[in-house]
Amino acid sequence: MPVPSARTLFVTTALPYANGPFHIGHIMEYIQADIWVRFQRLQGNAVHFVCADDTHGAPIMLAAEAEGTTPEALINRVGESHRLDWARYRISFDTTYSTHSPENVELAQAIFRALRDRGLIATRTISQFFDPIKGMFLPDRYIKGTCPKCGAKDQFGDACEVCGSTYAPTELIDPYSTLTGAKPQMRESEHLFFRLSAPEVVAFLQQWTAQPAPGQTLQPEVYNKVQEWLVDGGKHLNDWDISRDPPYFGIEIPDQPEGLSPKYFYVWLDAPIGYLAALKKHFDSGAAGALGEPRSFDEFLSSPEVEQFHFIGKDIVYFHTLFWPAMLHFSARKTPTNVFVHGFITFKSEKMSKSRGTGISPQRYIELGLDPQWLRYYLAAKLNSHVEDVDFSPDDFIARVNSDLIGKYVNIASRAAIFITRHFDGVLATPGESETDRANRLTIAQMEAEAARANYEAREFGKVLRDVMRAADRINEAFDAAQPWVLAKDPSQRDRLQTVCSQALQGFQNLSVLLAPVLPDVASRVAREFFGLDRDFVWSDSWKEPAHVNAYKHLMTRVEPKKIDALLGIEPAPAPAAPKGVAPAKPKAAAAQAGATSTASAPGTSPITLDDFTRIDLRIARIVNAEAVEGADKLVKLTLDVGELGSRTVFAGIKSAYAPESLVGRLTPMVANLAPRKMRFGVSEGMILAASGEGPGIYLLAPDSGALPGMRVK
Ligand code: MSP
Ligand code: ZN
Repeated sequence: MPVPSARTLFVTTALPYANGPFHIGHIMEYIQADIWVRFQRLQGNAVHFVCADDTHGAPIMLAAEAEGTTPEALINRVGESHRLDWARYRISFDTTYSTHSPENVELAQAIFRALRDRGLIATRTISQFFDPIKGMFLPDRYIKGTCPKCGAKDQFGDACEVCGSTYAPTELIDPYSTLTGAKPQMRESEHLFFRLSAPEVVAFLQQWTAQPAPGQTLQPEVYNKVQEWLVDGGKHLNDWDISRDPPYFGIEIPDQPEGLSPKYFYVWLDAPIGYLAALKKHFDSGAAGALGEPRSFDEFLSSPEVEQFHFIGKDIVYFHTLFWPAMLHFSARKTPTNVFVHGFITFKSEKMSKSRGTGISPQRYIELGLDPQWLRYYLAAKLNSHVEDVDFSPDDFIARVNSDLIGKYVNIASRAAIFITRHFDGVLATPGESETDRANRLTIAQMEAEAARANYEAREFGKVLRDVMRAADRINEAFDAAQPWVLAKDPSQRDRLQTVCSQALQGFQNLSVLLAPVLPDVASRVAREFFGLDRDFVWSDSWKEPAHVNAYKHLMTRVEPKKIDALLGIEPAPAPAAPKGVAPAKPKAAAAQAGATSTASAPGTSPITLDDFTRIDLRIARIVNAEAVEGADKLVKLTLDVGELGSRTVFAGIKSAYAPESLVGRLTPMVANLAPRKMRFGVSEGMILAASGEGPGIYLLAPDSGALPGMRVK
């Protein structure tokens, strides 16, 4: 029987684009939300935690086309990789779904019709660049040209990376389509707009942003930002263009005049509606019922006491504090209780970006055997309720995991359990402790649990972990001061030994409960294997005394700094300084083709001419399939899409570094005019490129985003 719960929560993270694998920024958001959700469940609250892939839009359509596949096939493949990573990082979504779903079509069309019937949809003709070769209107990001201010070539449609000036794409000199190189033409098209600037919408937004729900406020920095958009009675707000012309991968706009080509919702219109589509799936599949929720989807969503929270990053505040609440309100739906905004993860204070190669790959992290709970712990230690960026510092990561998590917390269990197992058959008791002392000890635990509860609720995870580590210090100090290893030698001190160790283990149980939202696997093993419970911890275990403990079994290992170096692609320790005049050993570009012997030349070999170099036909290829080769444990058989050059089969000796399935979908440079080579397993028709050093790692190269299969590398 489900216990009637104090609160009922509907929680989401942002819906990730289905155009590629997660980067570490996504994982940070999932970890933040998951910790909060697990904490709420531990409080006995009912949580419905859902997510979905955000599947629509021009980039996904074009990426699929470039791969020679359908958008559906692309989003299915990416969806698989997303689900795998959610499981790997222990993100406890109750239901995950897709915006490319019948539920989302139905909800998006219903919300659109409601807004239209309220008079909030306007039709306007706009002029826009059109690619005559591709036959499609061009989003700004696919237009480049010469900067009108400084004359720099190949600048994007909105801003110049050279002089920093901003402009409209129509101001570019010699504009061209990045899709085909064609000169774009100005064409007119009729678009639909959501009237964000309508007085009733502005009035509603002023009220919602000041108090999204009773007792709720936006984070101060979010509120200030939103007020900049809403100043002067909202007269600076622009109406929102919600339609796109075909070709477009999206949801068709209903009730359009017959005989004209269809129009589609702009991806950002149906994306947040995907929150509701995922929730509907969660109800219709029976998952909500299994969690003890008796209501239907419609009843649930219109229940005033259901709280709705969205975890998002700072780049999508506009969509979530203006468009989304307005869409819900004016289609007569309940609005979000609050949105929780986090900053970006940076690496050594630089913005992480895959394209700049500064990212930490969350897939590689797992493939190297690093424990996902370390990352959960580290990020939790740095997260708070503000919109601050979080810096990933490798040294800090190693220090916090090894010194704090293992050195302070895990150590309590291993040190104290030895004596209880050896001398007391696992029985925990505190003979000789006065009733007052015992009551005090349990009161302190209760106060610490209450402080952690308040900090978790407020998303001050860093504070929770600081307090937990302070408590661990206190437990370790008391344990050391009592010198149990001395007590154990003196039979007259037997009671005292049992008391000291039992007190330490009571503290260990209490801290394990407080850490459970962050370290779900460890907490579950501590509850079941160590303390022998037949269930996971409940919150009140954080101030209760355990009665029995089993022999300590290894709970968590330390981070090996070498593995972090491998994660970051750092070379093993450099060779001793080379004699003057000789360049130190540099990482060589390893030929990742099977059987290629190390032909990389020593530093200082004679230079080649540009002609020599241009004889090599270097191309971008997409790995469309990758499989292990039976009988060859180093090889992966790759099927490459090389654009205009067609499909190629290449055998690459990279199995030690990459699971074949993790390679599918990624781009890699390749040598396309290498003479085919007959091998035992088949013919290899080229060579992909990878970096390696003296150590075991092999690192594939990847082009910046925007590169397409078949493009030349020169
Ligand atoms: N598809 C939209 C969201 C639609 S929500 C209805 C989107 N997708 S995204 O894949 O680009 O980003 C998903 C989430 O990851 C966003 O909340 C975004 O802020 C967050 N992050 C993206 N890069 C990030 C960092 N470097 N650091 C932390 N979070 C980051 O936006
Ligand atoms: Zn410029």
